Amino acid sequence: MKIAVPKEIKNHEYRVALTPTGARELVTRGHSVTVQVSAGEGAGFSDADYQAAGASLEANVDALWSGAELILKVKEPQAEEVARLIRGQTLFTYLHLAAEETLTHSLMTSGATCIAYETITDREGGLPLLAPMSTVAGRMAVQAGAHSLEKAQGGAGVLLPGVPGVAPGKVAVIGGGVVGENAARMALGLGAEVTVLDKSIARLEVLDDRYQGRMKTVFSTADAIDEAVRESDLIVGAVLIPGAAAPKLITRAMLTDMKPGSVLVDVAIDQGGCFETSRATTHAEPTYIVDGIVHYCVANMPGAVAQTSTLALTNATMPFVIALADKGWQQALADDSHFLPGLNVHDGQVTYRAVAEAFGLDSVDPARLV
Ligand SMILES: NC(=O)c1ccc[n+]([C@@H]2O[C@H](COP(=O)([O-])OP(=O)(O)OC[C@H]3O[C@@H](n4cnc5c(N)ncnc54)[C@H](O)[C@@H]3O)[C@@H](O)[C@H]2O)c1
Repeated sequence: MKIAVPKEIKNHEYRVALTPTGARELVTRGHSVTVQVSAGEGAGFSDADYQAAGASLEANVDALWSGAELILKVKEPQAEEVARLIRGQTLFTYLHLAAEETLTHSLMTSGATCIAYETITDREGGLPLLAPMSTVAGRMAVQAGAHSLEKAQGGAGVLLPGVPGVAPGKVAVIGGGVVGENAARMALGLGAEVTVLDKSIARLEVLDDRYQGRMKTVFSTADAIDEAVRESDLIVGAVLIPGAAAPKLITRAMLTDMKPGSVLVDVAIDQGGCFETSRATTHAEPTYIVDGIVHYCVANMPGAVAQTSTLALTNATMPFVIALADKGWQQALADDSHFLPGLNVHDGQVTYRAVAEAFGLDSVDPARLV
């Protein structure tokens, strides 16, 4: 199969959809891989690395897209990219269409087959192509929070691990899923005093068991959040209610109960944020201060660590890429009931119900197409 890997063009996106290792894997299986010149640069992969892996390089973007059967990307296609997509091509990337009506319509118009990373499922009911980025964001949350606690950043001047004779800082993590567990784990590793709040007892059981009581697990209620607000130096917001905007768990009025210079890191900002005072920021200016509380609300945290994020993402996508290349999309999806829900748009039709419902469109059961 002819596979193309464009350079990402979304603002401050440095990841790439295929590593040289992945390219070698595909070339060895008899596929032709063409990578846009400098596509891997931001993630630490040179053009020479791809050539050494057997891939060809292409500088002309139109030629790259028009010659491909399968296009591998990271971010949802931007307008100029969608304009290049044609019927018969397969696009495999993050799409997040339920929040993107214009993109949904333009992908339908393209006639292409569009498979989204984020709607592929696994046997445990998880989202295996979202989890690696949640892991990255969760681990970064504490790094960002610890930095924000420094005086020069507007923070209280607290060192999370403390020192001998000085108690460690207190970290509360609201939402103990993938992001939350990874944040809590980093905070534990730093030596902070860690509390995780979640609505799911099953999840709290897992964390209690896994960390042998080294982090406090607390059922998430308004009272428990009030207590976390009063006591914590750093609060990480990591809740998710699938398909819904994040609930506002900390209001502006509650900020006055926090210690001055405490830090809120709202990882759930990509779902609207779980603190009332959160607004999306970028890596260029990641924090701002409201009522003396430092807010870090970067919506694409993994972008800052493009090397690690690219490797983590491509480890997860690679088995699906290989299946698409070896079998074609129809057979690959037919053979794997967890891959099937990845199909979002095919030949002008929406094939993912939540996306169709979001925009009042008809949806076609993907099982009927494979
Ligand atoms: N900013 C970024 O760069 C970035 C990167 C990755 C993920 N995220 C976002 O982080 C959020 C969390 O993702 P995840 O993968 O950990 O999701 P997840 O489903 O693994 O975990 C979410 C957890 O929140 C819990 N929860 C729901 N309501 C709650 C409440 N009221 N109080 C306490 N807990 C509650 C759930 O029980 C669940 O355990 C999502 O919004 C995701 O989109 C952001």
